Amino acid sequence: MTHQPLKIDPLADKAERYQQVAEEIAAVVEGEPNRVARMSTVASLLSHAFDSYFWTGFYVVDETKGDELVVGPYQGTLGCLRIPFGKGVCGAAAATGQTQIVPDVHAFPGHIACDSRSNSEIVVPVKNEQGSLIAVLDVDSTAFGAFDEVDAVWLERIVAATFG
Ligand code: SME
Repeated sequence: MTHQPLKIDPLADKAERYQQVAEEIAAVVEGEPNRVARMSTVASLLSHAFDSYFWTGFYVVDETKGDELVVGPYQGTLGCLRIPFGKGVCGAAAATGQTQIVPDVHAFPGHIACDSRSNSEIVVPVKNEQGSLIAVLDVDSTAFGAFDEVDAVWLERIVAATFG
């Protein structure tokens, strides 16, 4: 009888890794109330956990304007500083309060190209304990179609556990 190698489910593998990162983030930020420290920790640990992550970070709601995002803690190449609500993928997530999965950013109307190497992205709204939008978490990849429902579920869980 020949040996059959185990079939590794790539989705299960990704979910397991998210589980580990989620636990690591929770352990590091435990007892730390500062939002910048928490965002920096999330950006750092996520970006180092996945090779597919090219740009990983937060755009926070600018309290002085209300309908504009300003760049927050991130890992990656230079990000643009400000994004109005409704503009690009981050602006769509902020305006709708819904996670955006974009397999090809070039096909997304109004996409903001901070780095032309980005080809797909996911943006997750970040809400505080009261349910108000405080930021969005933006992850870009150089690959097309890098993100799916597994990423959405886990990133939503991570931001809810860290900021909700
Ligand atoms: N791609 C984003 C802009 C931010 S950066 O890529 C860092 C967007 O269209 O919302």
